Amino acid sequence: MSIIRDSFHSRIGFVLAAAGSAIGLGNIWGFPTQAANNGGGAFVFVYLMVTVLLALPALYAEMYIGNQAQKNPVSALEDACEGVSRNVGKYAGLFGLLGAILMLSFYSIVAGWMLSHALSPLAQLSGFDSVATWLGESSDLRNLIFTPIFIILSALVIKKGVHAGIERWSSRLMPILFLLLVALIIYILQQPGASEGIEMYLVPDFSQLKDPNLIIAAMGQAFFSLSIGVGGMMVYGSYMKKGEGLGKLVVSITALDTLIAILAGLLIIPTLFVAQHMGQEVFTNGQLIGGPQLIFSVLPTLFESMGTVGVYIALMFFSLMSMAALTSTISATEVPVSYLLESKGYSRGKATLLVSIIVLAACMTLVFNFDTLFDAVISWVNTFQLPIMGLFYFIVVGWIWKRGNLLKDKAVIDAKPSLKLWGNYLRFVCPLLLTVVFVNTVMAM
Ligand code: PHE
Repeated sequence: MSIIRDSFHSRIGFVLAAAGSAIGLGNIWGFPTQAANNGGGAFVFVYLMVTVLLALPALYAEMYIGNQAQKNPVSALEDACEGVSRNVGKYAGLFGLLGAILMLSFYSIVAGWMLSHALSPLAQLSGFDSVATWLGESSDLRNLIFTPIFIILSALVIKKGVHAGIERWSSRLMPILFLLLVALIIYILQQPGASEGIEMYLVPDFSQLKDPNLIIAAMGQAFFSLSIGVGGMMVYGSYMKKGEGLGKLVVSITALDTLIAILAGLLIIPTLFVAQHMGQEVFTNGQLIGGPQLIFSVLPTLFESMGTVGVYIALMFFSLMSMAALTSTISATEVPVSYLLESKGYSRGKATLLVSIIVLAACMTLVFNFDTLFDAVISWVNTFQLPIMGLFYFIVVGWIWKRGNLLKDKAVIDAKPSLKLWGNYLRFVCPLLLTVVFVNTVMAM
C-alpha cells in the first residue's frame, strides 16, 4: 500500500519554504561580516560568481535528485545510486542526515541566543529590567532554557507536516522578515556614520582578489547560505510535484537568498559604523569585529544608546534573526524526520519527538564542551560536510544515476538540446571546479 505523501500545495509556497531554509543567520550575520573582512565589493563579486557557477548548480542537483525520487534524502540517493550500489546512496544519505543534526547542534544554540535577545526588549518595555538584563547576557542557564525552546518551536512546525506546518509558516514569516529588514535598513542609513559603512561594503578592494582564501571563504559561505549538502533542499524538492520547471524555481530561490544577503550587508556594515560613530570599538587588528561579539555586544550596546527607539530597533532586529533561524532549522529537522517517517515507519509525531531529543542531546553536548566543540563542529560542517556532499551530488547526477535522470534520457535531450549543455556542465565542469577549491581549502588549513 502506498501512502499519499504530504507536499507543498503551490509553487510560491515551495519557493518561500526553500528560500526560508536558505535565508538564515548565514545571510544576515555571516555574509556581511565576511564581505567586510574580505575586500568589501571584491568579496561580493566573487560570491556572486561562485554562487552562479557552483552553488546554484549544486542546489539544482540536490533538489533535482529529491524531486525525481519523491522520497526522503536517504531513499532518494539510494534510488539514484542503484546502478552502482544502493548502499553507496544509503550511506551518503545518512552522512547528509548526520550533517543536518550537526548543523542543528550549533545553529539551535545560536538561534536560542537570538530568541532571548528578542525577548529582552519586551521585558524592558514591560518594566522587568532585571529580566531584560539577564536575557541579554550569556549564561549556561540561558542556553539550558532557550536552546530547548527553539527546538520545540521547530518541532511544533514540523509536527504539523509539510503543507500545514512548513509551507504555512514559511509563507507567513518570510514576508515579515523582508519588511523588517527593509525597515531597519531605512532607519540605520539615516544615522550618522552609516555612509562610511556603505563605502566599505560596496567599494571593491580588488587587490584582495589575489588571495586564494577569498574564493574559499566565498564558496563556504555560498554553500552554507543555500543550505546545500545536508539534504534539506533535497527533501523540499521531493515535496514538489515532479517536473514543475524546477530550474526556474532554483533560480528564484538563489536570487532571493542572494538578495537578502546583499540587503543584510546594507544593514549590518553601516550599523557597525554608526556604532563606531557613537564611540564603540568595532575594529580589532584592522579587521571588522565579526563573531558573536558583533551581534551580541556591539549591536545591543548601540541599540541601548539610542534610547526608547533603540528598544524597538532591538526587538525588530532580533525578531528578524529568530525568524530567519527558525525557517532554516525546520528544513534541517525535516531531513531525519522524513527518513524515520518513510523508511522506519514512524508517525510524524513520534519522528519529530525522537529527532528533537537527539538534537537537544547534541546541543547540550556542545553547550557543556563549548570551547572544544562549538567552533570545531561549525568548521567541520562548512569545510568538509557541505562541499563533500555537493561534490557527491554532482557525481550522482552527472555519472551514477541513470534511470529517471532526464539529463541522461536521449529522447529528452534530443528534444531540448540546451539540456545537454547543462548536463555536461554538471558532469564535467562543476565537479572539477569544486575539487580545485576543496583541495585548496584543505591545503590552506
Ligand atoms: N542556509 C542557512 C543559513 O544561511 C543555514 C542552513 C544550512 C540551513 C544547512 C539548513 C541547512 O543560515
